[in-house]
Amino acid sequence: MSTVIYPGSFDPITLGHIDIISRASRMFDKVIVAVLKNSTKKPFFSIDERIELIKESLTDIKNIEIDSFDGLLADYVNKKGATTVVRGLRAMSDFEYEFQMALTNKHLNPEVETIFLTSSSEYMYLSSGMVRQVAELGGDITGFVPEIVKNKILEKLFKG
Ligand code: PNS
Repeated sequence: MSTVIYPGSFDPITLGHIDIISRASRMFDKVIVAVLKNSTKKPFFSIDERIELIKESLTDIKNIEIDSFDGLLADYVNKKGATTVVRGLRAMSDFEYEFQMALTNKHLNPEVETIFLTSSSEYMYLSSGMVRQVAELGGDITGFVPEIVKNKILEKLFKG
């Protein structure tokens, strides 16, 4: 069975992430969406909230597992018995960071292959950070995230 790991912070999941997951789910038997637990950044959503939002956003895709990890991605990939990692590539600006990460993971675990799916054009400029910032400044984030994620962000920002 072919398995691919899609790692990220997902703080929060966006329509860009969902596009990558749904395309990867057509290429592999199983996609493991792996949420990083111990980011140095102070997260907007807790790990449990992020996982719940991912679950609720992906009810249409059946061949996925949602999990969290801390420590090295290279070790996590090994632990899951997988060898392939998928990442989305948006603009050229992503390239250097992604290249560095792929080579570091390969160095740590030579079995790891990283594949890149080019972002769909409508999500080229989309990031979780941009979504949070637009929402914080009162902008409309419809079209960037699923409705349930939008509601949860607004609830946290303005009803908390
Ligand atoms: O969505 P993000 O924040 O760009 O995802 C980054 C992520 C989680 C894939 C990356 O930070 C990661 O794999 N972190 C785990 C720690 C690790 O393995 N570091 C060495 C390789 S970069």
